[in-house]
Amino acid sequence: MAASIIDGKTIAQQIRGELTGEIAQLKARGVIPGLAVVLVGDDPASRSYVTAKEKACHEIGIYSADHRLPAATSQAELMALVRQLNGDPRIHGILVQLPLPKGLDESAVLLAIDPDKDIDGFHPINVGRMVIGEKAFLPCTPHGVIQLLVRSGIRIDGAHVVVVGRSNIVGKPLANLLLQKSPHGNATVTICHTRTKDIGHHTRQADIVVAAAGRPNTVTADMIREGAVVIDVGVNRIEDASKKQGFRLVGDVDFEAVRLKASFITPVPGGVGPMTITMLLYNTVASARRHHAG
Ligand code: GUN
Repeated sequence: MAASIIDGKTIAQQIRGELTGEIAQLKARGVIPGLAVVLVGDDPASRSYVTAKEKACHEIGIYSADHRLPAATSQAELMALVRQLNGDPRIHGILVQLPLPKGLDESAVLLAIDPDKDIDGFHPINVGRMVIGEKAFLPCTPHGVIQLLVRSGIRIDGAHVVVVGRSNIVGKPLANLLLQKSPHGNATVTICHTRTKDIGHHTRQADIVVAAAGRPNTVTADMIREGAVVIDVGVNRIEDASKKQGFRLVGDVDFEAVRLKASFITPVPGGVGPMTITMLLYNTVASARRHHAG
């Protein structure tokens, strides 16, 4: 039987509806949540992500300050901008789009962001807090994946989840969140990566497979157990002359074949993507609330 499609757009819309009420309450107290988005260089994929983030802010009533800097920006200039945003009371969240152009020190930039404005959850303080189960800004894509599962009625507690990919942005934090002793955790987690000997051996034992490898067709039908849940985090551009933009987006999963075996599956686009942006809005609103608590 073909899998049910997990509709990320609908679930994202539901969460954005919840946020609208919270933003109205903050505004009634004179607080407008503010997000600063910093994009260095002109990588087309990064530009389109950043444009989507800015649009989502405007739609929901979050103030967004956009800083688009040339690829030749120096480390000192970027650090100075981060420090200025740290001190700007209109700004509750700072997002520096990754990856940065070659020559810029990503770790130093992330370390310079005030952890209380780190709505990406990439500062080592927030990463550490998350790992030990303390209150922290959770990274947006992993948090979005968990919300997709929870809001689709899929049980994480006790499930065996295989995460394919070990990036700092998705694989590592997602694996950590899933194994937390918490109602949305308690999974048994396996992480596979480019040096794993036989990825299929692991994924075939999974109740839930999360593909976050950044490569099309990483997860094929023979790698999936009948009835498993499949979450596709991949966003890959494939040349396609029939499209106006000259490309189409595909995930890391062989969607058409895997959907015939899985019980639930996320599409690309329209699955995890809308959730990432929504959890960014969620963290920005949470940060505004924390900055103006009491
Ligand atoms: N690049 C890819 N995903 C992300 C993200 O969630 N945040 C930032 N800052 N950069 C990214």
